[in-house]
Amino acid sequence: MSAKILRGRVLSFMREPQGADDHEAYQYFEDGAVTISDGKIVAVGPFSASAEGEVVDHRPHLIMPGFIDLHLHYVQAQVVASYAGSLLEWLNSYTFVEEQQFAHQGHAGAIASAFFDELIRNGTTTAVAYCSSHPQSVDAFFAEAEKRNMLMVGGKVMMDRNAPEALCDTAQSSYDDTRSLIDRWHGRGRAFYAISPRFAITSTPEQMAAAQTLVSEFPDCYVQTHLSENDAEISFSMQLYPDAKDYTGIYEDYGLLGSKTLLGHCIHLNHREACVLAETRAVAVFCPTSNLFLGSGLFDRDRMAADGVRIGVATDIGGGTDYGMLATMAEGYKVLQLRGQRLNPLQSFYMMTLGNAQALSLERTIGRVAPGNAADLVVLDAGATPAMALRQKTIASLSEELFLLQTLGDDRSVVEVYIAGERTKFALEGLADALA
Ligand code: GUN
Ligand code: ZN
Repeated sequence: MSAKILRGRVLSFMREPQGADDHEAYQYFEDGAVTISDGKIVAVGPFSASAEGEVVDHRPHLIMPGFIDLHLHYVQAQVVASYAGSLLEWLNSYTFVEEQQFAHQGHAGAIASAFFDELIRNGTTTAVAYCSSHPQSVDAFFAEAEKRNMLMVGGKVMMDRNAPEALCDTAQSSYDDTRSLIDRWHGRGRAFYAISPRFAITSTPEQMAAAQTLVSEFPDCYVQTHLSENDAEISFSMQLYPDAKDYTGIYEDYGLLGSKTLLGHCIHLNHREACVLAETRAVAVFCPTSNLFLGSGLFDRDRMAADGVRIGVATDIGGGTDYGMLATMAEGYKVLQLRGQRLNPLQSFYMMTLGNAQALSLERTIGRVAPGNAADLVVLDAGATPAMALRQKTIASLSEELFLLQTLGDDRSVVEVYIAGERTKFALEGLADALA
């Protein structure tokens, strides 16, 4: 297969930046080339006119690894922007109603397709998704990902109480359905399965035990759930599991915490809980737009980091309000401002690329523009809107450019998205046809 060469300004992180001036943490080529063959990156370096291959010239734009979203609900695409006072009201009034629609294969397929379009338009090439409790919602999700050749993680939510009957499974059926979905999808093409007990409130101890069995039987699979998002949620969880030391202790007691476990929110953890996450290497996933929208609280990044907790970042569509990781980091910055903490632009762009890849232990596959990794890439324009172009005139450094992209950027800043080396945003917007 002949090589394709993307020319532009190439930026990729090699490790977590230790501060705003840690320029050793990333590789940057002002006139760079990313050589792609067979869906993978085969070389990265300065552009050379003598290199062989079809050149796609993206100058003056920035070529980066595609964004990774560690927590969202594809089945909530039509829940986004629902008016509610807090998490439990929002779940009961809108979310548990809408998710019932995913019993219908046609609905699941249509939403999956629109959802993947939206991810691509925003530069996200990998996401970790909750499906509904219906196995067909998982089939629709992975079938759509396969069609687009996207690396996706997902799973059927396990939930057998405190929700409408039409949405509830049972401990046994959730075990059986999860097993057969793992058999069908985990490791097929670019698909990875996440065992997904929704949260302590909607799982009986019997279902938690079923999840524990699944985790021990399928240690290669990811595990995802929600933890410590909202005060009322925490109190109710402790009523339901009175023997647990604390909320984290519930999941700890059922063996659900490990290096492949992704825990959405983690806003109100005590010191013991943070230490348990650190010891088990479970990942706390920061979901800023959701936490602000639902009034859940302010993630304490510095305390988590001081306790040694691994941290990822995510949109949490549909509690979250934006599909874009740029807007998500912009809100993350503001959450930390309110906490008196700093999030510098190098850290932001590290988090949504290599950082989230490391949270998935997939940094040798995604999250870096490096030979051997998949050619899942995003091309960004920091002058995409009139307001951005105006501000761009005064930009003096790469960090300032990244901060502008994060603060004012949206899907219009995403010029192109490559999935396994194929141009996808271009195709999605019909530009390929228009120019043919
Ligand atoms: N906790 C349990 N389910 C959900 C959900 O769908 N969204 C959010 N934000 N929190 C949850
Ligand atoms: Zn969630």
